[in-house]
Amino acid sequence: MRIALLGAGGFIGSHLAEHLIRQGEHDVVGVDIDLEKLEGITGPRFEVLKLDIADPIVEDVVVSSDVVVDLVAHANPSLYVEKPIEVFELNFLRNLDMINLCVRHRKRIVQYSTCEVYGRPSASAFSEDSDLVLGPISKQRWIYACSKQLLERVIYAHGANGALEYTVIRPFNFIGTRFDYLVPPHTRGGPRVFAHFMSALLSGGPMYLVNGGLQHRSFTHIEDANAAFQLVLDHPGARNEIFNVGNPANDISVRGLAQLMQEVYEELTGKSPGCEVIEISGEEFYGEGYEDSDRVPPDVAKLTSLGWSPQRGLRDTLREVMAEYLALHRPATTAGRGVRAAS
Ligand code: UGA
Repeated sequence: MRIALLGAGGFIGSHLAEHLIRQGEHDVVGVDIDLEKLEGITGPRFEVLKLDIADPIVEDVVVSSDVVVDLVAHANPSLYVEKPIEVFELNFLRNLDMINLCVRHRKRIVQYSTCEVYGRPSASAFSEDSDLVLGPISKQRWIYACSKQLLERVIYAHGANGALEYTVIRPFNFIGTRFDYLVPPHTRGGPRVFAHFMSALLSGGPMYLVNGGLQHRSFTHIEDANAAFQLVLDHPGARNEIFNVGNPANDISVRGLAQLMQEVYEELTGKSPGCEVIEISGEEFYGEGYEDSDRVPPDVAKLTSLGWSPQRGLRDTLREVMAEYLALHRPATTAGRGVRAAS
């Protein structure tokens, strides 16, 4: 089988590429405009194309593939308030083009969506059929979840009409090596929380706790996520379904994550972290239009009933990823939005 990985150069895409190369069962073509994270990832059945998703050549890639895996997205909350139109255009319009290509050429699609489609908690755990509750229009943060939700609705409608074979994956905070870039001390906005806290530990701080750090996230090791993808790819029961992919056992508040990362840092380096923890409001940290998204843990019963279960605990996951960041660290001297953590 030939698999097209659109957005192969991102964090999830580069890990899926590595996974599929290791498996060695399929031909894989990775497409991305930024190939930095794919450096050193090679295999006899792996081809890389440096292309914008809007390039007409992408249609040839779709036509020549059996399965299209769509990972193309802006996924950093700071962008949702800084560049909401770009977020809509990429996360909805450009992705819609991919859906239309898959419909036209009768290709199966695996679409990476987001746990953020659930919005505000409406139950004690998010199951795939939970309500999707977003904040007001003036809180532009929600343009991302809304774009992703609308895309899922279009996919579902095509599937229900028999025009598209799909699987939608809703990731819950995957983490692993090659995650977001590091930033200089006192940076606001920018990458996601793990990279911010890691930057603070490496530079001496501070760690910012947005809105007191009371919000919860369920962090998922990227290898557990890869295993979920493999199951979805292979299992006939995953056709025309939506799945949460997350690790409910790794649920923690952001404040708890800050504490745990400090502990793990000390274990790994033998040094006391010595970074101050400062509370800050969401608007001060991200800008006007930000609203925090509290989350409840994922209900993963639907995917576990097909045979998947997440294996990796949070402390071990953090140890592994933080050790990699520590090994790669060079002092962050670049002003502004920081430097990439890993190639
Ligand atoms: C983002 C995307 O919006 C989701 O689609 C995606 O699924 C998710 O990342 C992911 O990594 O899977 P979010 O979890 O809100 O969602 O992203 P983060 O930027 O990592 O924020 C997590 C929490 O930490 C938020 O409550 C944020 O306010 C807080 N935070 C962030 C801090 O307290 N301090 C920081 O320095 C950075």
